[in-house]
Amino acid sequence: MIKVAVIGDGGHGKVVKEIVSARTDTRLIGVLDDTFSALQYSGELYTGPADSIQELRRLIPDIVFVLAIGSNIVRKQLAERLGLEQKDFVSLIHPSAMISKSAKVGHGTVVMAGAVIQAGAIIGAHSIINTGAVVEHDNRIGDFVHLSPRVTLTGAVAVSEGAHLGAGAVVIPEMSIGRWSVVGAGAAVISPIPDRVTAVGTPARVISHFQT
Ligand SMILES: CC(C)(COP(=O)(O)OP(=O)(O)OC[C@H]1O[C@@H](n2cnc3c(N)ncnc32)[C@H](O)[C@@H]1OP(=O)(O)O)[C@@H](O)C(=O)NCCC(=O)NCCS
Repeated sequence: MIKVAVIGDGGHGKVVKEIVSARTDTRLIGVLDDTFSALQYSGELYTGPADSIQELRRLIPDIVFVLAIGSNIVRKQLAERLGLEQKDFVSLIHPSAMISKSAKVGHGTVVMAGAVIQAGAIIGAHSIINTGAVVEHDNRIGDFVHLSPRVTLTGAVAVSEGAHLGAGAVVIPEMSIGRWSVVGAGAAVISPIPDRVTAVGTPARVISHFQT
């Protein structure tokens, strides 16, 4: 049995905890979130702030973690702050998701109920493939990406680090989404989206640029 601690106790954390429970090979051992002041054990579950991670590892040496923070940038900052190794993170796949045998899912990535990841797709680390999202064949998805519910990426799409695609966005084949860019809910992407922009609509148009 894989012993899992979920880091993040907000709305996204709630869904991730249920994936741990839905699987037959994982067991929820702890929930870490800065809303907790010190590491405590209830008899069933450890709770504590994110920085109690090392204390928890001393108590349960074979524990693994998943970052359940919805914001891509906050998830990245936390991954850097915690300083854990790749092997310390588990990728969590809901039992109802369909992952091709030839696809790869990186460490710490969460794949939610009903998502489909097709042949040859490669997903990076600490990404979120949300409920019912479709990642078609040969996609390349970077680290710290979030594909919201019902996003549809058709064949050979490339999504770079930190990008967030809003609910129901659709991307036609071979398009690219730049680093840390945001695509609005319901957008249809029919041309490449550059780095660090927000793009909305059908067809998707850039409406703003991020300063940093
Ligand atoms: C794209 C998005 C991030 C923009 O948010 P924002 O920066 O706060 O932008 P604003 O709400 O100020 O809107 C700016 C303009 O874009 C338009 N716009 C915003 N989102 C849009 C969308 N999804 N589709 C079409 N137009 C949109 C607004 O109408 C507004 O137009 P105007 O300037 O003509 O009035 C947000 O609207 C969105 O779609 N987020 C996706 C959320 C989501 O799916 N989350 C899933 C969580 S699991």
